[in-house]
Amino acid sequence: MSEPGSGVIGPGEPGERVPDRVIAEEMGEEITDSLRRVRHAEETRYRAEHPGEGLRERKRRLTRHLIADVATAMFASRGFDAVMHFAALIEAGESVKVPEQYFDNNSLRTLTLLRMMLKHKVSRFVFSSTAAVYGEPQSVPIIEDHPLFPTNAYGVSKLMVEQMLAWLNSAHGLRYASLRYFNAAGATAARGEAHRSESHLIPLLLQVPLGQREAIAIFGTDYPTRDGTCIRDYIHVDDLAAAHLLALQGLEIHATLICNLGSGEGFSVRQIVDLARKVTGRDIPVRECPRRAGDPAVLIASSEKIRRVLGWNPQCSDVESIIASAWRWHKSHPYGYRVAP
Ligand SMILES: NC(=O)c1ccc[n+]([C@@H]2O[C@H](COP(=O)([O-])OP(=O)(O)OC[C@H]3O[C@@H](n4cnc5c(N)ncnc54)[C@H](O)[C@@H]3O)[C@@H](O)[C@H]2O)c1
Repeated sequence: MSEPGSGVIGPGEPGERVPDRVIAEEMGEEITDSLRRVRHAEETRYRAEHPGEGLRERKRRLTRHLIADVATAMFASRGFDAVMHFAALIEAGESVKVPEQYFDNNSLRTLTLLRMMLKHKVSRFVFSSTAAVYGEPQSVPIIEDHPLFPTNAYGVSKLMVEQMLAWLNSAHGLRYASLRYFNAAGATAARGEAHRSESHLIPLLLQVPLGQREAIAIFGTDYPTRDGTCIRDYIHVDDLAAAHLLALQGLEIHATLICNLGSGEGFSVRQIVDLARKVTGRDIPVRECPRRAGDPAVLIASSEKIRRVLGWNPQCSDVESIIASAWRWHKSHPYGYRVAP
């Protein structure tokens, strides 16, 4: 790809790993420096406008504020060819309690971003969508034509964006890729998985050998699966990053791309715990708990489409390697991106 620049909106693990790779493979340092400068300038301006705001509150509000203001400044300051959009609130359980925050942050603010793109004639968009748009699967592996009935507001907020994208494509020719991630996991040397309030299985269970948690809770042991626990599909962030680059390039040929992003293989919670015991060499006690509402028994992607259409070929999504990479990162970053308490 020879274009001058792509914007990347939203921190987070996929949202940081992809830029690493885009920077390494596609963009010049000059462009990334310019993005960093715009972001830094916006943060400085925000701090000046909100004197006396505590660090925690500032971080929380700044995050929300950034997507609109940094994007405005970035669009105004230079031309972009494409935007990759990762920023979102991501907790399905929380989304059921405060759906308005999810619709505001994930749907409405994305519309603001899309309007900005139209205004500045940026014609390619790569969107982090989710398996949650499918809801309870009627068949697995899940293909992209599977009915879309999300069971939480998070999934709805992402589906709304997908629907907006379809309309903006037909009205204005906006080219877009919607990548429906299954479970992004694993780490590189520099980036690992550490969410604001952790709810993902692998980082949670690695807290046990790190001495930060006594046991890992297994929610539901009576599902109709081989060992009674839920089955999920895990994809390494590096393979996810590779898919984003392929999607960006693919939009030169395809006007729209809607693809699952999963390995096509499923692993039960117990299997993941056993593999984590093997990788870490530690005992990881489990606590068996009742099912959580809204957890489908099995979520496995069909990854046939993305392999066929974009030539995606995951290299690091063997689940034991995913856990091993996560373990290496968590050992060297026991508090994630936070400083030790
Ligand atoms: N991790 C997964 O397994 C998974 C699965 C499906 C989809 N996704 C999608 O991938 C993307 C990244 O997820 P993640 O796992 O890295 O989550 P994450 O919570 O680590 O990252 C999301 C980031 O977006 C930021 N953000 C939220 N609203 C913002 C706003 N208005 N302006 C600026 N920043 C904002 C958050 O502060 C956070 O740093 C999300 O869009 C998520 O929906 C992730």
